[in-house]
This record gives sequence, structure tokens and C-alpha cells, in this order.
Amino acid sequence: MKFINHCLPLLSLMILGSCNVKKTELSSSLKNSYKNDFYIGTALSADQIEEKDAKVDSLICRQFNAITAENIMKSMFVHPQKDKYDFALTDKFVAFGEKNKMFIHGHTLIWHSQLAPWMEKIKDSTEMKAFMNDHITTIVSKYKGRINSWDVVNEALNDDGTLRKSVFLNTLGESYLADAFKLAAKADPKVDLYYNDYNLEDPAKREGAINLIKKIKAAGGKVDGIGSQGHWNLNSPSLEEIEKSILAYSALGVKVAFTELDITVLPNPWDLKGADVNQKFEGNPKMNPYPETLPDSIQNKLAQRYADIFKLFLKHKDKISRVTFWGVHDGQSWLNDWPIKGRTNYPLLFDTKLQPKKAYNSVMQLKEVKE
Ligand code: G3I
Repeated sequence: MKFINHCLPLLSLMILGSCNVKKTELSSSLKNSYKNDFYIGTALSADQIEEKDAKVDSLICRQFNAITAENIMKSMFVHPQKDKYDFALTDKFVAFGEKNKMFIHGHTLIWHSQLAPWMEKIKDSTEMKAFMNDHITTIVSKYKGRINSWDVVNEALNDDGTLRKSVFLNTLGESYLADAFKLAAKADPKVDLYYNDYNLEDPAKREGAINLIKKIKAAGGKVDGIGSQGHWNLNSPSLEEIEKSILAYSALGVKVAFTELDITVLPNPWDLKGADVNQKFEGNPKMNPYPETLPDSIQNKLAQRYADIFKLFLKHKDKISRVTFWGVHDGQSWLNDWPIKGRTNYPLLFDTKLQPKKAYNSVMQLKEVKE
């Protein structure tokens, strides 16, 4: 213990500008504090995958032991034309995770959004079947044994729990769901396969998700986990609904992961929840109340909200495989541009200057109390 305290300043100096896992092993961090509980992940932008900023790079390596690509694995980037894949950045992403001994999560194989233009034109079941077969088999086989888990299907549900009328449902009917999981399992029998969605704590959508997992399993699909994205706000969903969901999903015999966690602190007059990326709204100054800095009162609320959530996660750590934040720091968050472009949001644990916020301390303190 003495050695650790004595060496901490030296260690932090050594960490700056480097991404050496050994040097970060002794330092105080999310990944070290939670190492016996669940993986602590982050989503990486293309620049972060390319290690363009040494300070961001060292923060990623110091704090997180799991990674997801925020965008570059989506079909429009990785499969831009029918007969052309582009693995330049996905290769770098996987190499980054391997170099730093991180858990590597693939996001995402079958999603109605961010499709390449050629895919949007597919209208019949034969062509769509061929697309799914080729897309899933090619990508999952390529990273067989190197990627640890996949979001096989993303956001297949409407908020009322019914199936979204996506291009996949429209051309193939609901059998596309089980087929996607079967194809992924065939390409890499050992990789963990997840269904991923937002608003999964709402009772109606929860019921829909439970039915969906049951149906996929009944049809012979292998589902290892359910990913709740966790795009939440300061008041909702309630801790009660989050807990009910963890229990309900775990009762299906699958792992529960929180895959895209962030907490918006900005006003939302349309009572918008979740993450339907097609919704866009006009902005006005009232909708961007903290353009320079977040007031202490809200900073404290955010810290308390994160503490409450992580306390619940710890209570159910036996059921939770991974908690991944949707971004490394506030400056990177998609919530600065959604649902209104150009706002300043504060949803993560590190600020735009890469400094830990009160919310970081509150998450860390949950572990310090016990040790
Ligand atoms: O790459 C272009 C860049 O060239 C251009 O200058 C810039 C101008 O706005 O746009 C850039 O593309 C943006 C891209 O993110 C990369 O930053 C797109 O406009 C923007 O729409 C896209 O948003 C992403 C969104 O998915 C799109 O669906 C967000 O970064 C990403 O965080 C978000 O992630 C989704 C998950 O995959 C699924 N769950 C919901 C979650 C939040 O929407």
C-alpha cells in the first residue's frame, strides 16, 4: 500500500502520453476499482481509435478495460458497397483493444440506422437474406476469437414493445431476428451475442424485449446477453425500474450489460426519451442553459444520480457483465448534438478538459468505502 501511494505521482507522469497497461495497473481508476465487479468500458471515436491525442489515449488506457467503436463498425462504414468491405479502422480498433488487453465489443451487425445507401434499396427477401448472410458471416468470421462480444441486433423494438417496422422486418418478417443470431453463432461459436436497445427499463418495452429474447431462443438462436443502452436523464428511469429490468433480463438466463451509459442534464420539453437518432429539433437559448459551465447544484445532482446507479449495479454485479460509457469525455458526447444541434451537455464522468468530475468521485467512492 505504501508503495502505491508513494509511486502515484510518478505513475501519473509516466502515464501521460503513453498507453502502457503495465504502468497503469497500480493507479487509481475506474477499471481497477471495479475489476472484481464488471468491465468498465468506453465508446471510441475514429480519432481515438487512431490514437490522435496522447492525453485522451492515456486517459482511455488508464480508466477503461473494455471498448466499443462508437461509429466505425456500423454497416455504412464497414460495408459501403455490396461487394466491398472497409476494415481499415475496424482492424485498428481491434488492434488497440488487443494491445491494451481490453475486452472488445462489436457494435453493431444488424441495425436499421446508419445503413449504406445500397442496403436501403434492398426490397426483397432473397436479396436481404443474402445481405445478412454475407455481412454477418464476413465480419464475425474475420474477428473470430478476437472480438469478445457482438451487438447482433440493435434497436429492433418500438417503445410499446412491438417490433419496429425496419427494412429487415419488412423484407424478412420476424424470422430475421433468430437468423441473425444463428449466423453470428455459426461464424464464431464462442463469442458472446447480445440484443441491444434503448428504453429497456420502460415496462412495455421490457415486456417486448423479454418476448423477443424468448422467441429467438425458441427458434434456436443463441443469445448470451441483453444490452441496455442506458441513455438516461437525471430523474428517469427510476432505480426501481432499472432494478426490475436487471432482474427480469437475468431471469431469462442471459448476461445484462449497460452498453451506452450517459446521463443528459439538459432540458427536454418534448419529454423525449431514449435514442431514436431520426428525431431532430430546432434549438433556442433556453434549451442550452449551461453553455460555459455546469452549476454546482446540477453537478451534484449528476454525481448523486451516478452514485445511485452504480450502487444498484454493484448490488447486482453477479448479473452484470459490463458497464460502458458512451464516450470518454463530455466534449465527445453525441448528446451535444441530439436532439438539438450545438448544445453543451455534461453526461459523462470526465469533462472536456479530461478532468474527473464530481460524478467520477462519487462512482469511485462507492468502492473506497468498502475497501
Ligand atoms: O463523420 C461526419 C463528419 O465528417 C462531419 O463533419 C460531421 C458533421 O456533423 O458529421 C460526422 O458524422 C456524424 C457521426 O456521428 C460521426 O461523428 C453524424 O453526423 C452523426 O449523425 C453520427 O452520430 C452518431 C449516431 O449514433 C448516428 O446514428 C453518434 O456519433 C453515435 O454516438 C450514435 O450512437 C448510437 C448508437 O450507435 C446506437 N444507440 C444510440 C446511440 C446514440 O444515438
